[in-house]
Amino acid sequence: MTVESDQASIGQAAGSALAEAVGGAEETAGETARRMRTLVDERLARFLDDHAAPVADPEVTTAYRLLRGFILGGGKRVRPLLCYWGWRGAGGADCEQIVSAGAALELCHAGLLIHDDIMDSSDLRRGRPTMHRSLAGLHPGLAARSFGQAAAILLGTLTLAWSDELLSGSGVEPSRLKRARTLFDRLRTEVIAGQYLDILAQVRDLPTVEQALTVVRYKTAKYTVERPLQIGGALAGADPSLLDVYSRFGIPLGEAFQLRDDVLGMFGDPARTGKPVLDDLREGKHTILIAHALQHGSPAEVAHLRTWHGNPELTEEQAAGVRQIVIDTGALAHVELMIDDRAREAFQVLRSAPIGPEASAGLAMLADGLIHRTR
Ligand code: IPE
Ligand code: IPE
Ligand code: MG
Ligand code: MG
Repeated sequence: MTVESDQASIGQAAGSALAEAVGGAEETAGETARRMRTLVDERLARFLDDHAAPVADPEVTTAYRLLRGFILGGGKRVRPLLCYWGWRGAGGADCEQIVSAGAALELCHAGLLIHDDIMDSSDLRRGRPTMHRSLAGLHPGLAARSFGQAAAILLGTLTLAWSDELLSGSGVEPSRLKRARTLFDRLRTEVIAGQYLDILAQVRDLPTVEQALTVVRYKTAKYTVERPLQIGGALAGADPSLLDVYSRFGIPLGEAFQLRDDVLGMFGDPARTGKPVLDDLREGKHTILIAHALQHGSPAEVAHLRTWHGNPELTEEQAAGVRQIVIDTGALAHVELMIDDRAREAFQVLRSAPIGPEASAGLAMLADGLIHRTR
């Protein structure tokens, strides 16, 4: 899957009703977003060129090459774009500094994904083998699996460290950078707490919908939407009141983004999502879809869910049963309503946000794409 095809997916919702509401500014916003993505990818490539392996061992060089392929080889670049529009909304003009800050957020995201895929035992990401799988392939044999995981922990950690280095060296005026760094510190603390809650959910019984929503807020909404917007805003010197508006827009949008991810994880087309459709079920991901189905299912339905959700032996046949239960119990319809509610809330905040028309159009278009995406 290419970056271009991901870009097309975010752009494709542009014809929907919400995007139409932004009218003539929409095309400009789409063009700006495409240009920003290209600039961010160029900045990432340049950063990676400047950070070649510090030792001459060819196997280390190979690992770095795999990492570069992962970072540059796909992804929607959602966080850099939100950071950019957060900056524009606070009056920032196009410049290299905001491109570097957006690229730093993308590195942070890449590091988190590498670790997440180890934690979730995922084999595929963005339509390609995950980092720990690729690295395991470098040393076939009994130790391959543990080598791959250990190597991916290291490379994920390196990528996270690089994100810090890139943001710190972005060249933004020091007092603004300091404010943004405080938000970046929070982002990392929050996402790790969210990921911790997520793994706890796998070993605890039956989270309530409210508990599942807390996981969603911390593991995704804050690091994907709220904080990137605020970091962009802080870098441009935004007032605290604008950062508060970004939060009120970003949290519901970020929750909707993860709820859509959960729907795609069960009902999506793997050719478009780049992730296998049985992963979330085998992993036993405690999504709101499952929480709702368990709460509303008949005894037989609950028994099927309890047997197969989180069972690594699950095949397409049992997965079809789980999907049917999620539909029949009303869980899918309920989650779609939750997405709609959050989308409405986010757009309501956006409509009265004290930002210029370009940033408003850019955020409307991006938000629409995130809510209606198919990948
Ligand atoms: C995936 O994020 C992880 C979640 C928080 C759901 P993205 O959907 O932004 O992943 P890429 O970067 O486009 O692959
Ligand atoms: C990934 O969450 C979130 C982070 C990397 C912090 P998930 O495990 O729910 O998402 P996918 O399905 O692997 O992208
Ligand atoms: Mg995962
Ligand atoms: Mg996970």
